[in-house]
Amino acid sequence: RKRVVVFISGGGSNMLTLAKACQAADYPAEISCVISDKASAGGLAKAEAMGIPTRVFERKGYADKAEHEAAILTALAEIKPDIICLAGYMRLLSGDFIRAHETRIINIHPSLLPLFPGLHTHQRAIDAGMKIAGCTVHFVTEGMDEGPIIAQAAVPVLAEDTAEALAARILTVEHKLYPLALKLVAEGGVRMEGGRAVTTPGTFDGTAAQ
Ligand code: GAR
Repeated sequence: RKRVVVFISGGGSNMLTLAKACQAADYPAEISCVISDKASAGGLAKAEAMGIPTRVFERKGYADKAEHEAAILTALAEIKPDIICLAGYMRLLSGDFIRAHETRIINIHPSLLPLFPGLHTHQRAIDAGMKIAGCTVHFVTEGMDEGPIIAQAAVPVLAEDTAEALAARILTVEHKLYPLALKLVAEGGVRMEGGRAVTTPGTFDGTAAQ
C-alpha cells in the first residue's frame, strides 16, 4: 500500500473521505500522517479519532515561507510518503518544495479547472453564468491550482444558487472523486510524465458521475 500524507487547513472533510476509503482492505493506499498549517483545523480531531498521526506547522512559528516549508520537508523526509494529497490546504507551495516531491503531489480544487483557479471559485462560477460546475483533482505544479488533470466531476449550477449552496453540492462530488483519483494514482493507472498526466487506457475514465 502506498504511503500518503494529507495536507489540510480546515474542516478536513476530503481528508476524512480519503481516510475512510483507506480502511477498505483492497484500497491501495494508507494515510501515514495528516499535516496542518492551522492548529485550529477541524480536520485534526477527525484524523486523530481515526488513529491517524497529525503534525501541525503554523506559518507564524517560522521566520519566513522557506523556513516553514523546510520544517515540513524535514518531517516528510522521515515519513517518506509515496503520495501527498492536498485537501483544502490553503497555502501555495513553492517551486523548491514541489521539486522535492515532483510528480507525487496531488490537489483537489472545487472548480472545473482551468476555469476559476484560486479563491472565491464558487461565486465566480455563478457570476460567470455557468450552468455546470464541479471539481478537479490534478498533479501539483508551481502555479496556483494548475497542473495536469487527473479526474473531474460535474454538477449543475441552479438558478437560485448561492456560493454556499453550490459549494455544498460540489463537496458531495469531491468526496466521491478524490478517493477514486487517489486509487488511480496509487495503482499507477495515471502518472505524471513529461509535464502531462498519462492514463493507462481502460483503468478509469477520469470522471465520477454525480
Ligand atoms: C474543498 O472544497 C476543497 O476542494 C477546497 O477547500 C475545501 C476544503 O474542504 N480547496 C481549495 O479551494 C484549494 N484551492 P475540506 O477541508 O472539508 O476538505
